[in-house]
Amino acid sequence: MEAGAELEVILTDAAQQFVGQQTLSAIAGRPVHTNLFDGLSPSPHTDLARWAEIIVVAPATANFLARAAIGGGSDLLSATLLASRAPRLFAPAMHTEMWEQPATRRNTAQLLADGVYLVGPVEGALTSGDHGTGRMVEPDEIISEVIRILGPGDMDGLTVLVTAGGTREPIDPVRYIGNRSSGKMGNAIALDAARRGARVRLVTSVGAPDHENISVVTVESAQEMAEAAWASLEGLDVAVMAAAVADFRPGKTSEAKIDRSSGPPTLAMEPTPDVLAGVAERSPETYLVGFAAEVGSLDRAIDKAKRKKVDLLVANDVSRPDSGFGTDTNQVMLVTPDGQQDVWPTLSKAEVAHRLWDTVLERR
Ligand code: CTP
Repeated sequence: MEAGAELEVILTDAAQQFVGQQTLSAIAGRPVHTNLFDGLSPSPHTDLARWAEIIVVAPATANFLARAAIGGGSDLLSATLLASRAPRLFAPAMHTEMWEQPATRRNTAQLLADGVYLVGPVEGALTSGDHGTGRMVEPDEIISEVIRILGPGDMDGLTVLVTAGGTREPIDPVRYIGNRSSGKMGNAIALDAARRGARVRLVTSVGAPDHENISVVTVESAQEMAEAAWASLEGLDVAVMAAAVADFRPGKTSEAKIDRSSGPPTLAMEPTPDVLAGVAERSPETYLVGFAAEVGSLDRAIDKAKRKKVDLLVANDVSRPDSGFGTDTNQVMLVTPDGQQDVWPTLSKAEVAHRLWDTVLERR
């Protein structure tokens, strides 16, 4: 309120065990909402959901994160979140053991993938005299985060292309040659750009994050990915090619399912189009970021940065347990064609995405 916001307050049943309704309505200067069926409005959750420009849940308990992760809506707060398209910011607070539980890890990863913003928790004093990670961040930090989320983005006016996921090259109607890419890195890159105000064209073989700035083309094969990517080059400022594209495909796709009784087939392979090379050739003014999934040493990446004619190459060692396919974290090295290298620590894919855009904005 001091920062000029209009405020509506929802108190859950659990919250009322700690603070009374009167306390918060006195502070907010208006009645607080506690009940999905209060008889005052026929649909309090949709009224609140449509009115809010952002919904902040502070403190967010482990139980609340679990409910939100499965999309539950049995109380006023969760129903309001379900009914809203506004950004959602959660500030978790709980004991360390609860924060570190595999179930809470799963729920937080799910919420992040669904586009929820999280702030904290931090290390500090907890209830019952305990100390550890799980303390809610200070209110000022929550307010700064709200202002950052609602403020103008530093990618306003930019149009970017992101490719994500692994391609599938059909052998017959049932089988394909694929790879282990989950699309998480590409999706994180698309979502971060969208949140920063860019118009994002996402060409992907997997499910895409939901954001009004992202337009999605879903593809399967390298050929389809190439066609979709090359059709979206007009007015393109930056392209980030995070997809794991097959280099070869079966030269012929069998129309019928290949029969076991005919014995092991021999697949004659042919090259697929190089999506990235096609973007470089057709749209030379686009700032081009390539990815390189390597196994073991990243030495090859420097040569690849030159060979692929990119402005920036993001290399990662996919054989590490904390990096590469399917993980929620990534450990990458940035390489420029002139041989500059920047090794980043292991970070969440969301953080890698954010830093990557910071780097692109700085360099282009
Ligand atoms: N790429 C692409 N189209 C292809 C192959 C790769 O667009 N048919 C892109 C990837 O999205 C990635 C970059 O090129 O951004 C590097 O991919 P990678 O497979 O590591 O490179 P290759 O050229 O295939 O090199 P190598 O096989 O020697 O590792």
